[in-house]
Amino acid sequence: MKIIICGALGKMGAKLRENAKTQGDVIPVCGVDKTATDLNGFKVYDDFGKITEKADAVIDFSSKSTLNALLSYCLKTGTPAVLCSTGYDKEDIAAINKASEKIAIFRSANMSLGVNVLIETVKFAAKRLYGFDIEIIEKHHNKKADAPSGTAVMIKDGIKEVFPEKTEVYGRCGIVGARDRNEIGIHAVRGGTIVGEHQVIFAGDNETLTFTHQAESRDVFAAGAIKAARFIANKKQGLFDMKDLLAENA
Ligand SMILES: NC(=O)c1ccc[n+]([C@@H]2O[C@H](COP(=O)([O-])OP(=O)(O)OC[C@H]3O[C@@H](n4cnc5c(N)ncnc54)[C@H](O)[C@@H]3O)[C@@H](O)[C@H]2O)c1
Repeated sequence: MKIIICGALGKMGAKLRENAKTQGDVIPVCGVDKTATDLNGFKVYDDFGKITEKADAVIDFSSKSTLNALLSYCLKTGTPAVLCSTGYDKEDIAAINKASEKIAIFRSANMSLGVNVLIETVKFAAKRLYGFDIEIIEKHHNKKADAPSGTAVMIKDGIKEVFPEKTEVYGRCGIVGARDRNEIGIHAVRGGTIVGEHQVIFAGDNETLTFTHQAESRDVFAAGAIKAARFIANKKQGLFDMKDLLAENA
């Protein structure tokens, strides 16, 4: 499977190339980043328009700012896209949905299998622990550009599938008065080299249930993104996420 890496010079871009080597049949054919360069024969372009190589999928770990150019390239060449960047807004999501009518797109703000099982587990718990207060705490390294994490948003969205009436409250700074029972509190911690930790707390009367996922290395995201690329490489169109991949493995 040939892949193009968008965000090739970043932390995850480097991890993807490392992980591809361990898989044998995954060949990163080129990359895209802000600066053009050549890493021992692996070409990195500063513009999608300059790509001459063909690939079975583009894997993106860059930022929301690459989305339009990336989708244009994938639509023009019919290349499936695995979108791992976080921080997309409503317009970005609409553009992704529209593009997925013509090409295959796999999007997940968290490519680890564990986090996606955590979300299913949290939905299960939310249905049964009626009346419990739910709080989400996420922790990441001090270079992370967006807050709250895309994964915290995914967890919150999962809970809102069960309880649409709940509203998110970020950080709770400056709020005077008691907690509203319909709140989902979301809190971001930034520091050091923390790869990623997500904690979901269900606090009831005299008992607390806490679910925690800890990413121990960025390898988990690289491996998940390659699994996602394999999943969509031969698909013509449609929007897919980790639920589809997990369902295939169930
Ligand atoms: N889905 C997941 O599982 C998952 C896991 C880890 C990180 N992420 C997300 O992936 C993204 C990258 O993470 P990272 O830790 O590798 O960050 P990073 O800052 O180390 O790397 C990002 C790279 O993308 C490049 N880039 C950014 N904007 C660009 C643009 N407009 N054009 C060309 N290149 C551009 C940067 O130059 C940089 O080399 C972030 O959005 C992060 O939140 C997602």
